[in-house]
Amino acid sequence: MINKIALAGCGNVGTALLEILHEKKDELREKYGFEYKVVLVSDLMKGVIMDPEGLDLGAALESVRETRTFEKLPRAEGSFEELLERSGATVLAEGTPTNLKTGEPGLTHIRAALSRGISVTTTNKGPIALAFDELTELAKANGAQLSYEGVVMSGTPLIDMMKNGVAGCSVLKLEGILNGTTNFMLTKMGEGMEYGAALAEAQALGYAEADPTGDVEGWDAAVKVSILAKILFGADVPVDKVERTGITKVTPPQIEEAKKNGCAVKLLAGLDASSSRLRAYVEPKEIPMSHPLASINGATNAITVTTDNLGDVTLIGPGAGRKETGQALLGDMIRMSR
Ligand code: HSE
Repeated sequence: MINKIALAGCGNVGTALLEILHEKKDELREKYGFEYKVVLVSDLMKGVIMDPEGLDLGAALESVRETRTFEKLPRAEGSFEELLERSGATVLAEGTPTNLKTGEPGLTHIRAALSRGISVTTTNKGPIALAFDELTELAKANGAQLSYEGVVMSGTPLIDMMKNGVAGCSVLKLEGILNGTTNFMLTKMGEGMEYGAALAEAQALGYAEADPTGDVEGWDAAVKVSILAKILFGADVPVDKVERTGITKVTPPQIEEAKKNGCAVKLLAGLDASSSRLRAYVEPKEIPMSHPLASINGATNAITVTTDNLGDVTLIGPGAGRKETGQALLGDMIRMSR
């Protein structure tokens, strides 16, 4: 079956997805039996293009390179829902920016697809954090699949590891570094860079949220913890119930002092199910350099999952980035097509 892909949101991540699809077309078919056409791309800034027979990705990417828009291609007219229907899409890749208050516009896109039996992969934390149960049920009722690997640790396959890799284990707790921006900033501040310059660099590299207070105040890590609580423990831990402290008060001298004491400052996020109450937290901690998470630098994320049957399992990999998050969408689509 040919996967007919609609893409909602073509910023850094969506563009990276199109680039990977274009570059790896043959490899994806040969190695994974994954054949595709991109039939719709909708972006607030770049414009909307649609072709049920498959868009010319080379031309679309060239237009983006030259004009930062799709203006060199014929523009499609109509609402997202109408275009989704007319495009004949079988899968929606949803990569619009996260809005943790409303989940929009991603929530509307995802509902539109699932209610039509169109499977969805999303990197958008808002809809998953706000409407996980509703969307899961909507998918089930319409015979569609819903995947969200990219909402935590970008393309590093934590969700797949938890759903499939450690199947049969009970998870007792997990703790890790789940925000790339703040880990990048703490690393740079440890090298002497000022807070503002470190944040500006994280933004330039595409790690930060559209509103970076989401990163530095710990909201982004908190939402990931809230999502993991739901997926792993079926527990409703709203984001504002996660114990949360960000890195806004961490200073380069404090990091320097910690270093002198043989420690690193890390923003740790965790879930502890070892007692009767599930504890969810995000907090900067000084950890000894011998701790496995102390040497995780830059935008890299890492998480240690404590299980009954396997003991500790640690996963380390990129937690943010355009290509890395584009890979999350691609990986989900390949898995769903199987
Ligand atoms: N702003 C997020 C981070 C992006 O820095 O980790 C990935 O969720």
